[in-house]
Amino acid sequence: MLVRIGRKFKRCHGDVRMLQRDPVEPGRVSPKRDVPDAITRPDYVATGSVTTSTGLQVHDEESLDRMRIACRVAAEVLLRTGAAVAPGVTTEELDVIAHETYVEFGAYPSTLGYGGRRDYPKSVCTSVNGVVCHGIPDDRPLKEGDIVNVDVTAFIEGMHGDTSATFCVGEVDEATSGLVATTREATLRGIAAVKPGEPLRRIAEVIEPFAAGRGYGVVREYGGHGIGETFHAAPHVNHCVLPEDTLPFQVGMTFTVEPMLTTGVATYRQGDDGWTEHLVDSMPSAQFEHTVVVTPQGAEILTVNADGRTAAGTLDELTASAGSTN
Ligand code: MF3
Ligand code: CO
Ligand code: CO
Repeated sequence: MLVRIGRKFKRCHGDVRMLQRDPVEPGRVSPKRDVPDAITRPDYVATGSVTTSTGLQVHDEESLDRMRIACRVAAEVLLRTGAAVAPGVTTEELDVIAHETYVEFGAYPSTLGYGGRRDYPKSVCTSVNGVVCHGIPDDRPLKEGDIVNVDVTAFIEGMHGDTSATFCVGEVDEATSGLVATTREATLRGIAAVKPGEPLRRIAEVIEPFAAGRGYGVVREYGGHGIGETFHAAPHVNHCVLPEDTLPFQVGMTFTVEPMLTTGVATYRQGDDGWTEHLVDSMPSAQFEHTVVVTPQGAEILTVNADGRTAAGTLDELTASAGSTN
């Protein structure tokens, strides 16, 4: 198919006509779900504002252990929620599964009551097809051929762990599954580019050309973020190259890598709910996300469950696919 990237046209998997989608219409959003009082809330839920440090989140052994716990729960919630994705299932039903899993593990869903212009009302974000991010779970049933990103953030032990994956609903055409596979690989390649002492922009230097080489755009405005005792902290992790991103990676730093790739024109508008970002052309977009820690050797993915499993991919996949760079 042909996709316009700047002034160049690029060929990638499948047939462009398969990518046309109806816009995702907002559905009904159910009332907020309860979290047992025994589960500790992040500061912003009660006060409406973040009181913890928004600076770099750098850990010692003790705080990294707590990060591992939060990330392990997030990975487990994502696996269980992703396993329920099927035609006919509503995004509200996915939210319920996620919500119950956080609670089972004693974690608070970080997005529930997260402040913005309006408090976010649900325990995950579910972004379908041409929704780039921050879709709110509602009563829309998923349809065969849709893709849905489920974005999970767990708060436990005073730490947030953040991870997301894009799931295919039933059979998905080749053009769309190519987008999903490329986004997953781009995320993992970005993580593999992290080395202590190297500048932050190394991540974007890998992701942006990799996506462009397959004919996809990368959303500029949304990036990854430092994460730890604060949900969204420094640095802002760009997935598009900015020369000024010179901050050196530091051993113990935790942040997310979470590129959003687009098939059409990356212009989007916020829905009336104050959250959902809809691509104007409704062409599908995909996203994957991991929380990582910088190690002396590179970066370690923290968002894996107790068995080392994750729905968002492991660095081993890159070695397995080495050689097929384009
Ligand atoms: N989990 C998202 C991220 O990756 C943030 C969602 S905030 C919400 O940073 F309020 F929209 F849920
Ligand atoms: Co997230
Ligand atoms: Co994030």
